[in-house]
Amino acid sequence: METKVIKINRNQPDKALLKEAGQLLAKGALVAFPTETVYGLGGDGLKEDVAARIYAAKGRPSDNPLILHIAELSDMEKLAVDIPELAYRLAEQFWPGPLTMILKKAEVVPYATTGGLDTVAIRMPSDEIAREIIRASGTYIAAPSANLSGRPSPTKAEHVIEDLSGRIEMIVDGGDSDIGLESSIIDLSGEVPMILRPGYITKEDFERIVAEVEYDSAVLATKPQESIVAKAPGMKYRHYAPKGQITIVEGDNSAVIAKINALVEEQEAKGIRTAVLCAEETKAQYRCNYVYSLGSLKSEKEIAAHLFAALRFFDTEQLEVIYSESFEGTKLARAIMNRLRKAAGYQTLQV
Ligand code: TXA
Ligand code: MG
Repeated sequence: METKVIKINRNQPDKALLKEAGQLLAKGALVAFPTETVYGLGGDGLKEDVAARIYAAKGRPSDNPLILHIAELSDMEKLAVDIPELAYRLAEQFWPGPLTMILKKAEVVPYATTGGLDTVAIRMPSDEIAREIIRASGTYIAAPSANLSGRPSPTKAEHVIEDLSGRIEMIVDGGDSDIGLESSIIDLSGEVPMILRPGYITKEDFERIVAEVEYDSAVLATKPQESIVAKAPGMKYRHYAPKGQITIVEGDNSAVIAKINALVEEQEAKGIRTAVLCAEETKAQYRCNYVYSLGSLKSEKEIAAHLFAALRFFDTEQLEVIYSESFEGTKLARAIMNRLRKAAGYQTLQV
C-alpha cells in the first residue's frame, strides 16, 4: 500500500487537506495524525473491521483496547452510559486536552474497539489538526499511538513514517508533539477513580477536583512482576522497549556520574556500543561516545517531550547498553519515570 504523507502548517492549516484526511477516515481508511500528546493511528472507532485493521497495522494484540477520540463534549454521551457527574467536571477542567476517561460503554461501541471490555476509553484532544480531522470524519476516531507495537510512541511524523509507512493510507505531518507523553488515563467506571496511566495531568491536578483518587498498582510498579497484575489489559504488554538494555542509575548526583563513567569505560573497552541518557546540566561530565541530553532539569516539560525520540535514537544508532540518570522531580516526574522504567524493563542500580 502506498502511504500518502501530507504536511500541515499549524499557523495556516490547509482546510481542504484536513477534510481529505477526514473523508478517508469516513471511508474506513487508516490515517495517522498529530495530537498534543503523541501521534495517533486513527480509524473509524465504530467499525469492527477497521479496529481489526488498526491492530494489524500496529502488530498489536487485539485484547489491548483503543481510545476513542471525540471533537465535542456531547459526543461523550453517544459513546458512554451511566456517566458520573465527575466526568463532566473533569471534562470541563481538562478537555480538550491530554486526558482519557474510562466510562461504561454504550451499545454503539463495538467490542472490537474495547478489546472485549464493557468500558470505553474517551479523549478529546486539544490539537487543532486532530480536532479538525475528527470533525471532518463525521465519526469517532479510535487512535492508539501510531507506533509499531513494542516501539516508543511517535512524537514526530518521521517516527510514524519509520513504523507505519506502507501499512496505512495516510500520515498527516503536523510537526513535533507538544507534550510528548501519552495522555493521563483515569478510570471512572468503578467505585474510586483510578489513575491507570500517569501523564501531563497529574494526581495533584485531579485532587483539586476529586476528593479521592488512586493510582492503579501498575503505575507504582518498580518491578516487572508488579506491572503484570495490572488492571488495564494493555498494561501487561512490554512497552517502549529500545533494543538496547537501559539501566537507570539512582543516587547522589556526583556518585551517579562517577558510576556511569566507570560503567561506560568498561563497556566501551569491550567494544560494546554504549550511551548515556542525562540532563543538560550534567551532560559535559560524561565521557562516552553517545551522550544524549533530554534537556534542562529546569523544564520537566522539555525532558518529557524528548524522551521517546531519545529511545528511538538508541535503536537507530544500534546502541546495546544505555545508562540513564533518574529524572525525579515535581509535576511530570511520575509520568516520565513511568515510561523510562518500563523502557528499562525496571532495571535500576542504586549507588
Ligand atoms: O495520548 C494518547 O492517549 C494517545 C493519543 C494518540 O491520543 N493514544 C494512546 O493510545 O496512547 P494507546 O492505544 O497507545 O494507549 C491506550 C491505553 C492502553 O494502555 C489501553 O490499555 C488503555 O488505554 N485503555 C483503553 N481502553 C481501556 C479501557 N476500557 N479500560 C482500561 N484501559 C483502557
Ligand atoms: Mg501506545
